[in-house]
Amino acid sequence: MARRRLQGLRVLLTGASSGIGFCMAKQLTLAGAQVLVTARRKDRLDRLILQTRDQHGTLQAIAGDLTCAAHRQRLANWCQDNWHGLDVLVNNAGAGAIGPFEQADVDRLRKVMEIDFFAPAELTRLCIPLLKQGTRPAILNIGSVLAHRAVPNKSEYCAAKFALRGWAESIRVELSPLGIEVLMVSPSTTRSEFFDALVDTHPDTKSRSAGSMSPQRVAELALKALVHSKRDMVLSLGGKALVAMGRWFPRMTDRFLASTVKTRNDSN
Ligand SMILES: NC(=O)c1ccc[n+]([C@@H]2O[C@H](COP(=O)([O-])OP(=O)(O)OC[C@H]3O[C@@H](n4cnc5c(N)ncnc54)[C@H](OP(=O)(O)O)[C@@H]3O)[C@@H](O)[C@H]2O)c1
Repeated sequence: MARRRLQGLRVLLTGASSGIGFCMAKQLTLAGAQVLVTARRKDRLDRLILQTRDQHGTLQAIAGDLTCAAHRQRLANWCQDNWHGLDVLVNNAGAGAIGPFEQADVDRLRKVMEIDFFAPAELTRLCIPLLKQGTRPAILNIGSVLAHRAVPNKSEYCAAKFALRGWAESIRVELSPLGIEVLMVSPSTTRSEFFDALVDTHPDTKSRSAGSMSPQRVAELALKALVHSKRDMVLSLGGKALVAMGRWFPRMTDRFLASTVKTRNDSN
């Protein structure tokens, strides 16, 4: 399949105030795309506007909470009024949570599902009519390696990312006759603000992982997946190893993950 050109592409990108989304917004505008970004922290979006001012593309921002239906509608209306369509929707905004399921407040599961699953699914529903008017349209979902193999003490996040992946797999086939591609990129641990913004998680909680990637690198690989229409991509070697191990040796993987929980002295 021919490469997708980023220049001139009309992109709606969520979660652009930090981490992977912030880097993707910068890389997209550098490549000449027209980008509408969103997140709750307006000051961060203003900083992004300043940093992308002299690039080839354009960047507009609308601050708001994606778990709010009125905000999602505002974003779709903006695309209709200003672009009369949309080429790419990037569902990137998300948040995690860490800690044993039994001990969590009942709200934690719902909050994580709201931002990691319901918000992107409902934003996509609003954007499908716009994408139908787009050029080589695509929906790019930022998943997680934990959408492929779940780990302990992140049950809410794993559930939400598994849901996102299952939903994406289903609408990929539904939307294919309309020419709308559904892509998914699954990073492993990324050095963003993700672990400072965990939902209903004790502030001292730490997440351990064998390695990590920079948000710049994850953004580069995600845009590469968009350019080459990669349908479902796990980004890191460690992530690929965990997925393969879980698939071929599920019991051994359970035992291995259980041993990592037992040896931890933090509250993960
Ligand atoms: N970091 C990792 O280790 C890792 C690993 C695998 C996958 N991922 C996935 O990568 C994506 C980006 O995460 P990141 O690592 O870049 O983390 P991050 O730096 O914390 O960025 C998360 C983004 O989501 C936005 N967001 C969160 N809740 C929101 C809400 N209710 N409404 C609107 N925007 C909201 C945040 O903006 P505001 O706070 O300003 O609203 C921020 O821009 C997420 O989907 C995450 O699940 C991350």
